[in-house]
Amino acid sequence: MPVLDGARIDAIEQAAQALARGELVAMPTETVYGLAARADDDNAVGAIFRAKGRPADHPLIVHVADRDGALAFAATLNPRAERLMAHHWPGPVTVIVRRAEGRAEAAAAGLPTIGLRCPSHPVARALLARCAALGVHGLAAPSANRFGAVSPTTAAHVAAEFGDALIVLDGGACDLGIESTIVDCSTRRPVLLRPGVLTRAELESTLGEALVDADDQATPAPGTLESHYAPKATLRLMETQQLGRALSVLPANMTGLAVYSRSAPRRHRWVRTMPDDPKAVARELYAVLREFDAAGVKLIWVERPPDMPEWEGVNDRLQRAAST
Ligand code: TXA
Ligand code: MG
Repeated sequence: MPVLDGARIDAIEQAAQALARGELVAMPTETVYGLAARADDDNAVGAIFRAKGRPADHPLIVHVADRDGALAFAATLNPRAERLMAHHWPGPVTVIVRRAEGRAEAAAAGLPTIGLRCPSHPVARALLARCAALGVHGLAAPSANRFGAVSPTTAAHVAAEFGDALIVLDGGACDLGIESTIVDCSTRRPVLLRPGVLTRAELESTLGEALVDADDQATPAPGTLESHYAPKATLRLMETQQLGRALSVLPANMTGLAVYSRSAPRRHRWVRTMPDDPKAVARELYAVLREFDAAGVKLIWVERPPDMPEWEGVNDRLQRAAST
């Protein structure tokens, strides 16, 4: 199956028809590319789990066109979820709410809750709107990569991973580059299950209350704790000084090593400069890790970014990538 230009209305139509038939389609979102199937069809959703090699107990996020779409899957939308949706949809925030009985059973991996997100990418929005017109009110879509691997941020990344097996809608390189923020609104206190590009302060100001950390929960959400988002090479996070010392003793003709750093001099051809802006790093991070892998490096040294609120999403992904 081809990579189709997502800016073309006939490509959207072809993709929507395929989804309505229960087939898989890869779609761009503002965060990362997703591997989509109609959420109301457990067989179609099963094909996502098989394609990714994802354990069946890892729930998927259901993507909807708007609040009405969310109402097709939620048992209730509580005030917290409503606030987040009103302020941040369409956009990179996923809310976990109680699931409507019998809906999207496979996507939710049987949990009594469901993750809902309304993406802002124009191609995703056009696709969701066309699907809704065909009676398909939600698309279950995890990141379009094999389980545990780095999420794709271009159509080429997806095609490299899934070859010719499905339609890939090309919407260009993703603007944000790391996955959506996930807030569990189904619990007594709102829980930040996965940080993203929005800062904790922005979310707390929307909610009017503090977010609880996932680590403080008795039962961790499946798929949020173990190593994830990892390149093939071994990634090591290093403090600025430690990295500087290590680099100063390495010969310039070293092979098998790549460095991603804000401060290291580009004396060595394998040093790639990390931008100072966390949003710029989020945007390029997964593509950079994929480039390193494609170059065949065995070891990636990453200078640890500042421990600051605006770096939380990037630091979370780097930590996971380093913990294999
Ligand atoms: O930005 C994103 O969210 C991307 C794009 C494609 O929208 N999607 C994405 O999906 O990152 P995925 O499957 O790679 O990550 C979904 C995360 C998992 O960590 C899963 O555990 C969590 O969402 N999740 C989904 N439903 C949940 C639920 N009912 N309760 C707790 N966690 C849930
Ligand atoms: Mg993923």
